[in-house]
Amino acid sequence: MSKDDRLMTTGLRAGDDELEPGLRPKALRDYVGQEPIKRNLRISIEAALKRREPLDHLLLYGPPGLGKTTLAGIIASEMGQNIRITSGPAIDRPGDLASILTNLTDGDVLFIDEIHRLSRSVEEVLYPAMEDYALDIMIGKGPTARSIRLDLPRFTLVGATTRAGLLSAPLRDRFGLLFRLEMYNPAELACILRRNAGILRVQAEEEGILEIAGRSRGTPRIANRMLRRVRDYAQIRGDGCITCDIARQALDLLDVDAIGLDRVDRTMLSTMMDKFAGGPVGLETLSAMTGEDATTIEDVYEPYLMQLGFLIRTPRGGVVTPSAYAHMGRKPLPGEDANDPDEQLSF
Ligand SMILES: Nc1ncnc2c1ncn2[C@@H]1O[C@H](COP(=O)(O)OP(=O)(O)OP(=O)(O)O)[C@@H](O)[C@H]1O
Ligand SMILES: [Mg+2]
Repeated sequence: MSKDDRLMTTGLRAGDDELEPGLRPKALRDYVGQEPIKRNLRISIEAALKRREPLDHLLLYGPPGLGKTTLAGIIASEMGQNIRITSGPAIDRPGDLASILTNLTDGDVLFIDEIHRLSRSVEEVLYPAMEDYALDIMIGKGPTARSIRLDLPRFTLVGATTRAGLLSAPLRDRFGLLFRLEMYNPAELACILRRNAGILRVQAEEEGILEIAGRSRGTPRIANRMLRRVRDYAQIRGDGCITCDIARQALDLLDVDAIGLDRVDRTMLSTMMDKFAGGPVGLETLSAMTGEDATTIEDVYEPYLMQLGFLIRTPRGGVVTPSAYAHMGRKPLPGEDANDPDEQLSF
């Protein structure tokens, strides 16, 4: 399997684009899970609508595929406004951002994906825009240079990032609302899958849905991708219906184990156990071991292994836990528990 063809890639791939818009919920009531975020958003949206003001600028952060882009679209439609979509790497120069901002209309939602990748000089254009809906333009050069201030439409900036830690403090501080998206539990994923099986008009038994949900690593994008693969399998090897057996066979074929670990996860865990006595192992070493770049390991692999309680992050690197050993069918070497920070605390 080529790197881009793997099921676990949580970024958008060819094929997802035409499928995902249809599966993307358009209203807050169809957006499953993330209850604390929805509770806060409902209040903020209702208040802003009552005051006839734009919503506060808002930052969404968390691992890929959890629904940041989807939520940005929902926010715009709940506010009854248009959304303009761009991304950090697409905005090269301050002038690019200035032209985006001046082309907005009152109330617009401006969505900047991967906002941590804005350059510092572009960020500086954002500060007065976010604070005062203003654009400062320098005219002339040298000692005669002066700046003039242009008014901008009153807009809402929605920033999304997988790396809140890389955002500069001045930018982070200018967001009124900051929401961290959490991984979804199997019941929530099952709810998303049931709805999407309906949209895709595929018949699915509850056990089949639960089997897919349990292997989706807490990530709706992966759940949707698996649903599509299982649907194909059901059509060819079964009678079209997603049963528990069909789901299991299809996903086994994709080399995803019962709790959603793929080959990279398993290589990571087994090398840490066999070659490094359980860790700590630094990110660069994990990257060399698996052939995955460090960013993917940090954004995609580590969060799920940590969520499962299989991996602990320490200042010196990742450490595998006894439950990871149990899942991998291995016994920790005697004395290895000393690597476990929890164990150390109990000494
Ligand atoms: N809460 C949800 N309820 C239902 N479906 C969801 C939810 N969150 C995400 N999805 C589905 O998962 C897909 C991926 O979500 P989305 O593209 O919004 O993720 P993202 O967080 O923006 O990812 P990235 O960081 O890669 O940009 C969507 O197309 C949508 O179908
Ligand atoms: Mg996105």
